[in-house]
Amino acid sequence: MNVISSFDLEPWSQQRLAEIEACLEKWIPAHAPANLNEPMRYAVLGGGKRLRSLLVMGAFEAGIHKQACEELEWRREAALRAATAIELIHAYSLVHDDMPCMDNDVLRRGKPTVHVQFGEALALLTGDTLQALAFEVLTPEHSLITPYLQAALCGLIARAAGHRGMAGGQAVDLTSVGHDLNEMQLSQMHKLKTGALLEASVLAGALCAGVKDSDLDHLKVFGSALGLAFQVIDDILDVTADSSVLGKTAGKDAHADKPTYVSLMGIEGAKHKADVLIMNANQALLSSDLSTTDALVAIALRVVNRTY
Ligand code: IPE
Ligand code: IPE
Ligand code: MG
Ligand code: MG
Ligand code: MG
Repeated sequence: MNVISSFDLEPWSQQRLAEIEACLEKWIPAHAPANLNEPMRYAVLGGGKRLRSLLVMGAFEAGIHKQACEELEWRREAALRAATAIELIHAYSLVHDDMPCMDNDVLRRGKPTVHVQFGEALALLTGDTLQALAFEVLTPEHSLITPYLQAALCGLIARAAGHRGMAGGQAVDLTSVGHDLNEMQLSQMHKLKTGALLEASVLAGALCAGVKDSDLDHLKVFGSALGLAFQVIDDILDVTADSSVLGKTAGKDAHADKPTYVSLMGIEGAKHKADVLIMNANQALLSSDLSTTDALVAIALRVVNRTY
């Protein structure tokens, strides 16, 4: 999909990513009982596109009023904490997704998966501990971040990660193996297992910025459409990309007999679906009163044009 824009996402994301990597590095412990810190660091640091954290920061910057905002400092701290927390939850979901009882994958982010490197029991505990750490990051004891915002972020992210979101979608994914799903069923599964956390990333940034309800509604539509498009592209890349580029084993979905957008409508049909979703996502931004949505628009285009 081609859209001409003068906004350059590369320097924008490099700057934000430097901050996010520093937060992740700071929060993953250097020491933990029985060296649990080692698989934690292995799972989180040194890899990943960090799309979710960029969405948090993009939505935050779209929503914040910079003119003489005396709340800017603690609101930005909240956004960085939310971005960190969501990357931790995402990393946990990947560790568990790769385990033999789920997708049984040996390669992730160009490295052996956590259970291959450290064993299944430690992989399980790594996921547990990353999820708990996310909520620790969201609830600092000494901070100007209001208790209301801390609680709102915890609620939002818990709902996106739990049975109404990622974990629920993963359960549907497992029970769908070998079944033909219609588009409604497939989109529901994808929205839960992947879309929910991406949508929550956008909404978390917006909550930190304190955007008004009508703009939250538009951002929810944006995040939901982008979240589904992201998994549609993941389904396509599983068929079209090389493992060396993806950093994970390609061709797994067909091999495991998983229903995907490619199995439902072919590669071209799935690409068209993703394009339409991204158009809808960006349309929702145009309907909002948000002023600086360049980064979000550019991230959405990157999602649909990505090669890994
Ligand atoms: C992979 O997510 C898992 C899905 C939800 C499809 P990403 O493609 O964002 O993984 P990383 O973080 O870049 O490794
Ligand atoms: C995973 O979907 C979604 C998660 C919640 C981790 P996939 O199983 O398709 O993700 P990949 O292809 O292994 O990254
Ligand atoms: Mg999976
Ligand atoms: Mg998988
Ligand atoms: Mg996949």
